[in-house]
Amino acid sequence: MPQLKPSLYKNIGACQELTASPAGLVVFGASGDLAHRKLFPSLFRLWQRNLLDESFYLLGCGRKELSDEKFRDGVKAGLKKFLSDVTDDQAESFLKRFYYIIGDYSDRRFYESIKERLDVLDKEYRMSGSRVFYLSVPPDIYDKIVQQLRDGGLSCPTANKNQPNPRLVIEKPFGHDLETARQLNRTISRCFDESNVYRIDHYLGKETVQNILMFRFANSIFEPVWNNNYVDHVQVTIAEKDGVGRRAGYYDNSGAIRDMIQNHTLQLISLAAMEPPVSFDADSVRDEKTKLLKAVRPFSESSFAENVVLGQYSSGTINGQSVAGYLEEESVAGDSLTETFIAARMFVDNWRWSGVPFYCRTGKCLASKKTEIVVTFKQMPHSMFASIGIEQLPPNILIMRIQPDEGISLRFQAKGPGGKMCLSTLEMTFNYKDIFGVEIPEAYQRLLLDCMAGDQTLFMRYDAVEISWKLLEPILQDRRGNKIKPVQYPAGAASFPQADELIEKDGRKWRPLKDN
Ligand code: BG6
Repeated sequence: MPQLKPSLYKNIGACQELTASPAGLVVFGASGDLAHRKLFPSLFRLWQRNLLDESFYLLGCGRKELSDEKFRDGVKAGLKKFLSDVTDDQAESFLKRFYYIIGDYSDRRFYESIKERLDVLDKEYRMSGSRVFYLSVPPDIYDKIVQQLRDGGLSCPTANKNQPNPRLVIEKPFGHDLETARQLNRTISRCFDESNVYRIDHYLGKETVQNILMFRFANSIFEPVWNNNYVDHVQVTIAEKDGVGRRAGYYDNSGAIRDMIQNHTLQLISLAAMEPPVSFDADSVRDEKTKLLKAVRPFSESSFAENVVLGQYSSGTINGQSVAGYLEEESVAGDSLTETFIAARMFVDNWRWSGVPFYCRTGKCLASKKTEIVVTFKQMPHSMFASIGIEQLPPNILIMRIQPDEGISLRFQAKGPGGKMCLSTLEMTFNYKDIFGVEIPEAYQRLLLDCMAGDQTLFMRYDAVEISWKLLEPILQDRRGNKIKPVQYPAGAASFPQADELIEKDGRKWRPLKDN
């Protein structure tokens, strides 16, 4: 299909950037994989861009026995592995501010030692006691650490305007279901004020996800048609090529519903469908997202079969390589019914979206890696081109490509050159890399900077977490009772008949996973 490219862009207004406020960053799980792969490289980039405060320091906490020197060596090796352009000098200069302390997360004395160490570091860096606690540890020990931070005098449950307030940063999953999510929220609220809690859903840190709000609310031409008068349906796809890999142990107890729908997918839907917030501040944006989630129709027992299809990959081929089936993965029970794919038809029961289906699908070991939100507009009421055999004109389609090939495209019809009448479908495409000429920054850079600068806009509030779990409770209960069984699909498949049937029975089609 021919593509048109916009030829220029210009900045309007000032480009606002936050800088981290003075605070020591305390990372639990500092010798772990996530910290080395994502957190430290992102911090390094922020440091390179002078966005960290000059008094910034980092105290790594972990169970592995390491000296400050050995810890720095490990972080340096990670920086060199995960970032291609780091010199020894740069790494060493950055890592001078890194320290390490070993201990047992359930032992009160560990927290006393952390406090003592932080007091010394605060003096050395002339810091006023402002701290950010980042838990890069398995979620089942969040409760324990949060409570110990409180007992050890490192957190306070109410915000105090006259004092530096300790902040808490945790990563999804926030609980395993509604009950455990509520329990975690209760523990957190006993130890930290909600205004100091940063729950990371890394999708919200992706540039293209943040752009949904700019695109919708900084342009006047889309909002008037962004509703059930003009939109036929919306598709949200988060397809992955990879299988569960080394995370099979976690995944088998989780599945695609918990791993991808409760958080990333519902967050994408809420951004694409929410009402305009009064301003671009954390509470206004999060209020609207929560309001939208409250309008999503909960799944019910009677509607499963109609609205949900679960799948599980069997052996197949990806990139010409044979791939083992899910049941053959290490740490997965041979009779596991955990879903690695879900397709669902959802509705948002409010004035704007009444009757518009939101078709979502996410899965592992699929034909390609692709995340996108696609808005398909209603068909023209009448075709005046019937004489050239076009009884029904193709609909306009707006594609927000979250990853890869980040950008936005709009499909429309236009006259092709030549004959008197000749219609073609064109795609007007905006591509981040081509237009801005820069690599898209890693989501963690944005999120780390925001939590150190005290901006909660891109973090999940407790109420959104609980509402999302509540919506899914009925499916999770039926899954527990093994009432819904996943259908097998071969690894590398673009789809499978039952998933197709979910949308085709409404006279619609999934967007192809591979671009045509
Ligand atoms: C994580 C899930 O939250 O997101 C993983 O736990 C998934 O299972 C990952 O692979 C996908 O993230 P991304 O950024 O690669 O799309």
